[in-house]
Amino acid sequence: MIVAGNWKMNKNATETAELIRAVAADMGNTDTRVMVAPPSINLAVAADAAKNTNIKVAAQNMHFAESGAFTGEISASMLLHLGIDHVILGHSERRSIFGETDELLAKKVDAALANNMTIIFCFGEELHDRKNDIHFEVVKNQLTEGLFHLDSKSWQNIILAYEPVWAIGTGETASPEQAQEMHAFIRKTLTDKYDAALAENISILYGGSVKPGNAKDIFSKPDVDGGLIGGAALKADDFLAIVRSA
Ligand code: 13P
Repeated sequence: MIVAGNWKMNKNATETAELIRAVAADMGNTDTRVMVAPPSINLAVAADAAKNTNIKVAAQNMHFAESGAFTGEISASMLLHLGIDHVILGHSERRSIFGETDELLAKKVDAALANNMTIIFCFGEELHDRKNDIHFEVVKNQLTEGLFHLDSKSWQNIILAYEPVWAIGTGETASPEQAQEMHAFIRKTLTDKYDAALAENISILYGGSVKPGNAKDIFSKPDVDGGLIGGAALKADDFLAIVRSA
């Protein structure tokens, strides 16, 4: 099980260190892999605060190039220099607000893997896709375009995060049954493209309005291997309650 907090554009440097310390202090011993992804400007502070804890720090995004004329961007080697080897790629906000395409994401995936980083790869349908009953097709397409050029070995460094866009920040979560249905479809798609062993070994997280009150039901589904948490990751108590549900 993995529980990862995507902080999005929240918390300054001081608050970043405080929140990580608060989570670490009360986390206790857990088998769950716990990650937090603060904004890039606070990654150094976060890495420092997470030192000697069981919390992994992840970046929310990165560029595919090693360095160069890419104003406002950060590279894999800059992350690695801070000891950060996990990165979220393909979040729906990057896709829809910042225009990141499947093609761009495939390049970022390759760059992260070339640097031996672990990727939390996000994807998920929009409300109109689900209403038009093409959500399975949309998800399969996002996986195909972003990841299916990879060989089986590369998948050791991939964590999937299914995040239906209509459930993000809306308070309207997918039902545990809807999450399970999609996660089972994802595993079947991986089995068809690769093999059953690979599909079984991949962690598939659910994201979209996961809260302390619904986490247990969602995580109890057989194909749900944890969660990618937005709003509820910003309060230590809520985040810890979700970690405990896992
Ligand atoms: P919320 O938990 O705030 O709905 O956000 C989910 C998300 O986008 C995590 O990446």
